[in-house]
Amino acid sequence: MRNLINILDLSINELDELISVASDIMDNPQNYADKCKGKIMGALFFEPSTRTRLSFTSAMMSLGGQVLGFDQAGSSSVAKGETVSDTVRMVSAYSDIIVMRHPKEGAPIVASKVASVPVINAGDGGHYHPTQTLTDLLTIHKKKGRFDNLTIGVCGDLKYGRTVHSLISAMSRYNNVKFVLISPSELSIPDYVKEDYLNNSKYVEVTDLEKAIPELDVLYMTRVQAERFDSVETYERLKDSYILNHSKLASAKSDLSIMHPLPRVNEIDVDVDEDSRAHYFDQAMYGRYIRMALILMLLKTHGVDDRRGTGVEIEGKVCKNPHCISNSERGIKKLFNSKSKCIYCDQ
Ligand code: NCD
Repeated sequence: MRNLINILDLSINELDELISVASDIMDNPQNYADKCKGKIMGALFFEPSTRTRLSFTSAMMSLGGQVLGFDQAGSSSVAKGETVSDTVRMVSAYSDIIVMRHPKEGAPIVASKVASVPVINAGDGGHYHPTQTLTDLLTIHKKKGRFDNLTIGVCGDLKYGRTVHSLISAMSRYNNVKFVLISPSELSIPDYVKEDYLNNSKYVEVTDLEKAIPELDVLYMTRVQAERFDSVETYERLKDSYILNHSKLASAKSDLSIMHPLPRVNEIDVDVDEDSRAHYFDQAMYGRYIRMALILMLLKTHGVDDRRGTGVEIEGKVCKNPHCISNSERGIKKLFNSKSKCIYCDQ
């Protein structure tokens, strides 16, 4: 079974193929209208979503397929205490591909171990969000025409922002990509992202957005992730750390690409929306087409993909991350890789 849990499950060649198929779909949608006729997508959204859920639904419908599922854990048997494994076992009997969003980090790995159909991670806690990265890559391809030789500013909540973690891991594979990581120190990028993806790439960590702007080719703004904070006071103090507005863009490059996975709260003023460099609404639109390409790819590939999900138990060792699925799901083994990191959440 082929899954998409981490963006690195896709090779660079496969990313190129997805981008090329998505572009062809945009040009010739009629050629794809029946490609998934008779197929069903199970959409399991244990956490709120607008763009990801609706663009996946739109993608499957545009391919002639159908969608079932739920958009609130409260309306499923999870409310009765069902595990992720049991829910996914059932849904894989009712569908041909599963898209899942869950608040616990590593939940899609648990799902992929029991599913009999491909599993797509549509966001797991503050960990990863690989299909947002596909959308981001298509946007960078369309707007910048390249993945090499880019200076990418990533601004806001780099600690809990799962889209950032996946974007960095994807872009760190290209040549001469420099990251400018802009955040308050309390919301800086987690160590596992630095250790696993940033060692070969150049990066700097700064706190001042305006000083960073002039050198950027891409500015990726993010929302401070209210739902991941343990303390309301800390969230309130940090939520408006960065607000991009028209005047702050005065020193920016004329071909800067301003991106945001959305939803935005205050971090991009509406006065930026009219700027020709504001690409976040196009970015959301591209999500439908790249997800169509992804569904087609996963439904036609029958390879074995179990690179993740292997690890060993270490006597007495448990993951210290309170948001990790291994600490809440009943009946799963607590597994660690050769670097002693938890295989579910990487911490
Ligand atoms: C993002 C997410 O869910 O992580 N939204 C999305 O899928 N476009 C970003 C966010 O919620 O801030």
